[in-house]
Amino acid sequence: MSSQPLLPSSGNGNGESSAVPSFVRRHRLSSILIPLLLIAGVLLVAIRGERVPKDSLGLAKYYLKTSPVIDGHIDLPELARMVYGNNVDKMNLRKKTPGHVDIPRIREGFLGGFFWSIFVMCPESEENDDFMTPTNSVRDTLEQIDVSLNLIDKYSDTFAHCRTADDVMRAVASGKVASIFGLEGGHSLGNSIGALRMFHQLGIRYMTLTHSCNNAFADSGGIFTPVEEKWGGLSPLGHDLIKEMNRIGILVDISHVSEKTALQALATTRAPVILSHSCARHLGNISRNVPDKVLDKIGRDKHKIDGVVMVNFFPAFAAPGEEKLVDVKYIADHITYISDRIGKHHVGIGSDYDGIESVPKGLEDVSKYPYLFAELIERGWTESELSLLSGGNILRVMRGMEAVSAKMAKEGQRPSYAVYDKRHDLDGGFPIEL
Ligand SMILES: *[C@@H]1O[C@H](CO)[C@@H](O)[C@H](O)[C@H]1NC(C)=O
Repeated sequence: MSSQPLLPSSGNGNGESSAVPSFVRRHRLSSILIPLLLIAGVLLVAIRGERVPKDSLGLAKYYLKTSPVIDGHIDLPELARMVYGNNVDKMNLRKKTPGHVDIPRIREGFLGGFFWSIFVMCPESEENDDFMTPTNSVRDTLEQIDVSLNLIDKYSDTFAHCRTADDVMRAVASGKVASIFGLEGGHSLGNSIGALRMFHQLGIRYMTLTHSCNNAFADSGGIFTPVEEKWGGLSPLGHDLIKEMNRIGILVDISHVSEKTALQALATTRAPVILSHSCARHLGNISRNVPDKVLDKIGRDKHKIDGVVMVNFFPAFAAPGEEKLVDVKYIADHITYISDRIGKHHVGIGSDYDGIESVPKGLEDVSKYPYLFAELIERGWTESELSLLSGGNILRVMRGMEAVSAKMAKEGQRPSYAVYDKRHDLDGGFPIEL
């Protein structure tokens, strides 16, 4: 036991006042370097928390620790409405819920943040061709924001409400689960661009232009088969809507929309887009999935629009007709297909957990993301590529959207006061001479 200490103590009693220089003087280079490398190794392990695992699942968890999943679409608020009547006191997220999401499973699965889907059903549409049948969409949408804020407040030790990409980074760095709101379907606006601005005030940072129904702004793509076209893509008001979303800073989400709507939205937007929860149509030929023609417009080249396609886990979308077979590999196939076609800078995760009736084998709930990442490691994905998929891409796209909004403010762009042409309550015809 006569080995030298790694670092000389400063008060070693032999009269040397400055420890480091004497340490350097007394030893040859190799005997300095080895301890220094050891110290660096110890520090690295201390920072990362553990040794680098060799198996792919261990490695996946190790990577996810520093680059956790930011999921583009989770329907926890819908579960709150459907199962608990939005009474947050009846919900216990510290124990296993009947859905796919709770705090222990969030932590187990390295879910660092997610877009809480603010969703209400499409209006019964048969007799609603002008979208003017009165519905409670706006009230119900407000209630879904309310229940989300109530849950974040109830579990404020876990969740942090975020409005910007920087908020998300801060939340993740402090160990909180970043909680951003995304509005699922333009029908939630009650045909009103003013309502869009108010939802932005409440924290909405993306909006899916449609759900499964056409609305006053755009045509939907339906689910398994297309719905009958109303506008042939965007309506005239839909163009105003996109400009307003760019201006105030809400990501245009082209999941759910028809191919024409998607292509027109891509031709109209100045800001990056997302598909918050979509599979590739090439691997699952249903109208709800994103076609190659739309994928090919997304990219960072000059003539493309930056964006991220966040892959949906619903087996009926991933492999229509063979739902029972769907496992981790099928979902990895969608990610691989999209990233092979348009690049690893344009894929993300949009599980749709709590909004889907069945789940892939091996991806049963939010605790299982590491198994998907392990599968991708087996397919050769590197740590930095996985960090793009888990959250890097959506954060870049959010920042791009925020930059466009700031630019439009600098340009002095004014709010849109465009009105749906059926809104006779807003035709300015009050019979008083001013
Ligand atoms: C996909 O489905 C559509 C509509 O059902 C059909 O017209 C088309 O040929 C199919 N494409 C492929 C590649 O099977």
